[in-house]
Amino acid sequence: MGVDVLLGLQWGDEGKGKVVDVLTPAYDVVARFQGGPNAGHTIEFEGKKFVLHTIPSGIFNPDCINLIGNGVIIDPSILLKEIKTLEASGVSVVKNLYVSRKAHLILPSHRLIDAASESSKGLQKIGSTLKGIGPTYTDKTARNGLRVGDVFGSDFLEKYNALKNKHLQLVSQFGFDYSEHLIDGLRFESYEQLWFDSLELLKKLNHVDSEYFINDLLQSGKNILAEGAQGSLLDVDFGSYPYVTSSNTTIAGVCSGLGIAPGKIGKVYGIFKAYCTRVGSGPFPTELHDADGANMREIGHEFGSTTGRPRRCGWLDIPALQYAIMLNGVTDLIMMKADVLDGFQKIRVALAYEFEGKQFNYLPFDSTEGKLLPVYTDIEGWKCNVTELKEKDGLPSELEKYIQFIEKEVKTPVTIVSTGPDRTQIVYR
Ligand code: GDP
Ligand code: IMO
Ligand code: MG
Repeated sequence: MGVDVLLGLQWGDEGKGKVVDVLTPAYDVVARFQGGPNAGHTIEFEGKKFVLHTIPSGIFNPDCINLIGNGVIIDPSILLKEIKTLEASGVSVVKNLYVSRKAHLILPSHRLIDAASESSKGLQKIGSTLKGIGPTYTDKTARNGLRVGDVFGSDFLEKYNALKNKHLQLVSQFGFDYSEHLIDGLRFESYEQLWFDSLELLKKLNHVDSEYFINDLLQSGKNILAEGAQGSLLDVDFGSYPYVTSSNTTIAGVCSGLGIAPGKIGKVYGIFKAYCTRVGSGPFPTELHDADGANMREIGHEFGSTTGRPRRCGWLDIPALQYAIMLNGVTDLIMMKADVLDGFQKIRVALAYEFEGKQFNYLPFDSTEGKLLPVYTDIEGWKCNVTELKEKDGLPSELEKYIQFIEKEVKTPVTIVSTGPDRTQIVYR
């Protein structure tokens, strides 16, 4: 028995939250291993919709243990807001939620650095979610960070102030005037107050040495699912650097973010949309600027779950998908949002890229925006509504052909197809 993993194969927002929620009944534990509140994982059922940023998506099953691992970074004010929203809707959170003592804290001043850094970059900005992700992981690797376990130390305030002062110096070096800058609608000082108030509640959560906690659960025969955030093409090592996030979103992040040995990894579920989206800056070879792209955005409601920004949309990119499958050792593919293409007469798939007259099917070191031209093949659309299909129903033959085409190209089976945002809109193959 091992730890199964579910992670995104594109640029995030593939629908990880929905599928984790669907798979949760088969697991005793769901664990987040990296990222922070840059994530926005949407779960819909019984006419209700929830967006989770830090809490694992197993939280809606009252029998499931939910672990925030050491590789995750936590903003106490965002986490507490999330807990309150869920509990106000009758979802019991605190009992089943466990937080690693080694998880790093996002300070209010990390968020200022994120904003200052982005504004200094002008057109070259990353398009960060402004949640302080880059600066917090920077402090982690620079060995300056503060961790959840530190909040109980008698010198916590001293350490906090020392780090904050360093941050404020950096912010002023950027020439960034934060006096009018709002963080989640609040000026810095007010946000800092909210952050400290939230910290008091964070102190009351279940804190664990998560590497022991999870290995003990595994040893005792529990089924564990690790839930990825972002997507493989945003990985700090393998994504389109520098337009990436600051963590390993790929399978390696499970080992370092939870303390799971590689040999204990079981199934690897790789999630991809039937097309592609990206939010923020960076290369996106199959991006569409035409009516097809606009239709994908409108039908798929492609607006960021965390920031509300419109997502860039485009056709499925097979070389990029193959790359992500290779990096993660994907055993099972899950295709999301098939329904969004219901009305399309023709579906295009990129099989290779062209650059300076040459064709190739790998992601080159330099994939500067606009440089790679996709080489497409066309596939017939299914032109019917798949949103009403039931779990065991067969798929329309043209959709089945589209999936078989993808499976042949990437040599990995597609075992689940999602046909709408609701928990029930799922077909198993
Ligand atoms: P995540 O970050 O990977 O969890 O994905 P997000 O929640 O950010 O974005 C996925 C969006 O698509 C959410 O609004 C989901 O409710 C929605 N969604 C998930 N699966 C499907 C699907 O099969 N069809 C449609 N139309 N929407 C879906
Ligand atoms: P989920 O888990 C989509 C993108 C940002 C930006 C880049 C760096 O919901 O799939 P950061 O704030 O991490 O420094 O931003 O990464 N990004 C995401 N895009 N889904 C996400 O998470 C993302 N998390 C970060 O838009 O381009
Ligand atoms: Mg998301």
